[in-house]
Amino acid sequence: MKIWGQIIIVLFTLGISTYHNSSHGESLFTIENLFYVVLAWFLGRQYDKAKYYEKIARLSEKSYKNLLDSLPSTIIIHKDQRVIYVNDLAVTMFRAANREALIGKSTLELVTPKYADQLIKRTKAASSGNKALKSIEYNLKRQDGTTMDFEVSSLKIIFEGVEAVLSIGKDLSNIQICMEYESNIPFVYCDENQLKQVFLNILKNATEAMPNGGNIDLKVKKDKEKGVLIQIIDQGVGIPKERIPTLGDPFYTTKEKGTGLGLMTCYKIIENHQGQLQIDSEVNKGTTVQIFLPSARDVLKETGDQKRSTSHFRNEIFK
Ligand SMILES: Nc1ncnc2c1ncn2[C@@H]1O[C@H](COP(=O)(O)OP(=O)(O)OP(=O)(O)O)[C@@H](O)[C@H]1O
Ligand SMILES: [Mg+2]
Repeated sequence: MKIWGQIIIVLFTLGISTYHNSSHGESLFTIENLFYVVLAWFLGRQYDKAKYYEKIARLSEKSYKNLLDSLPSTIIIHKDQRVIYVNDLAVTMFRAANREALIGKSTLELVTPKYADQLIKRTKAASSGNKALKSIEYNLKRQDGTTMDFEVSSLKIIFEGVEAVLSIGKDLSNIQICMEYESNIPFVYCDENQLKQVFLNILKNATEAMPNGGNIDLKVKKDKEKGVLIQIIDQGVGIPKERIPTLGDPFYTTKEKGTGLGLMTCYKIIENHQGQLQIDSEVNKGTTVQIFLPSARDVLKETGDQKRSTSHFRNEIFK
């Protein structure tokens, strides 16, 4: 705990007392002054304590949000039918541009009209009880206008100091993500947020390519030549051969609400990481996206200057 509040208030009180006593020709060491100094110390200490607990609360709120973001379930926190927080998976599931596109929205806008009454009743029940409500099915509206079935359970919580409802659920659209990691994958230097954006864009494309569900295989392997290989394999509609060379071009999209910027951004980010992004696809069979990233050791060897290359990639290490 910092003690700046105590120091400043005590010094201020001492300053005033010294000025007052010297201008009246009185001694500084009086019971009255001692009382004022003790009072100032007490008030300063209360101030420092308040600041300290505020900081702890802010830190625990941040770690709480980090925890929500790392969960493999979709989480929506809402109060009075307004969304106040969503985790990363919810952003992907709703196909929203970012978190801010969902925060502040009415929860009623996120479900198809048939489910509005059910949502109002469940939110009321969750807000007035202390137990998690059993999972129940909804049909949700994504931001791109498509809909999906979703199973949700809700619970009253305290979030950012206020009572709210946390709804946690899973997508019933039948998409399974299977992950496979080889052991001893080398480290790579990267900007963690940028790579996160790449994987979210590619996983979003893979799920959108499988409207009736299917499997997505995510494999992370060592690559003898290039360092690390990440493969994202879907069983979706696929891409015609003649379209593959144009995939990194801006605004190429086959989706009603697509921007056609997702893959372009992915190519750019991987290029900036001195990697390579390769897409292979077969219509009606599926698509394989392969990302090659150089190992940190190779990057250092190439530049021959450890300091320069670490600062280049904002010191993030990804394994
Ligand atoms: N895994 C995939 N399976 C089938 N087609 C794909 C896949 N990934 C990309 N595509 C095709 O490539 C196009 C461009 O993809 P990109 O991610 O750049 O934009 P988008 O997905 O259309 O729009 P946005 O990313 O803004 O939602 C898509 O519209 C789609 O036709
Ligand atoms: Mg996309």
